[in-house]
Amino acid sequence: MEVIRSAAEVRAACDRARAEGRRVGFVPTMGALHEGHASLVRRARSECDLLVLSIFVNPLQFGPGEDFETYPRDERGDLETAERLGVDLVFAPSVEEMQPVRPPEVTVDPGPLGDRLEGASRPGHFRGVATVVARLFNIVGPCRAYFGEKDAQQLAVVRRLVRDLGFPVEVVPCPTVREPDGLARSSRNARLRPEEREAAGCLFLALSEAAERVRSGERDAATLVAVMAREIGATPLARLDYAAVVDEETFEEVREITGPARAVVAARFGSTRLIDNLRLPGP
Ligand code: PAJ
Repeated sequence: MEVIRSAAEVRAACDRARAEGRRVGFVPTMGALHEGHASLVRRARSECDLLVLSIFVNPLQFGPGEDFETYPRDERGDLETAERLGVDLVFAPSVEEMQPVRPPEVTVDPGPLGDRLEGASRPGHFRGVATVVARLFNIVGPCRAYFGEKDAQQLAVVRRLVRDLGFPVEVVPCPTVREPDGLARSSRNARLRPEEREAAGCLFLALSEAAERVRSGERDAATLVAVMAREIGATPLARLDYAAVVDEETFEEVREITGPARAVVAARFGSTRLIDNLRLPGP
């Protein structure tokens, strides 16, 4: 496994692979790798020839007062994990390599999707994500890129980025990996105190309860939102940020379930903010 810090060298390695007819797979991450990331890597490994994993904690996607400084970082552990999973090339650039001018003068507007839900709670977050993902796609070049449904709104933003700016990238969505109690795996889970960790199970409970209601015929989004808010609200250590039912494609809130929809939630447990979502059963 190669560890490369320079964008030009990654580009050259990917170009060489493509010239030999090898398929490039790309898994962008911010490190602190866990089973969620591993599932993306395994899928990519099984479908591609040159497997590139990037590790870059992107300052652009963190707001002032968010956890950029304290975001978990463990490069040594991540490189061991990557090697074990069969990654060929790890791209672990410095901030200077990725953003020679800080902050960059040109950024990518994520469009209306960038202002909703997660975007409303974290102004500028999706602009930061879209900008760094565009930068990474330009470095890696034509590839299959793997993203987790755990961050469903991010996945939707990336799909639009590829559609509207024409990146030669095939976006591959991957299912959310969960703990036995349903909590979605996240680098931030490590920060939860034991009693917060236990409380965090309420997110998946709330989503599952909404899905169950749909299964038994409920179509009214406001009712489903109330069900989720009640479940999370009844958990003493949880502070609800939002609960919503959105159109699978546009992420616009729906009034009624008439087509593909997703339930999404965000809540704080102490100083740790967690998000989760679940595809709702079809009507
Ligand atoms: P990060 O949070 O490290 O996540 C990297 C990828 O792993 C994302 O596609 C995310 O959706 C996926 N992932 C995280 N937890 C998962 C889980 N439990 N199950 C399945 N997939 C999971 O998302 C980012 O980094 C950044 O925003 C990035 C796209 C790298 C841009 O900086």
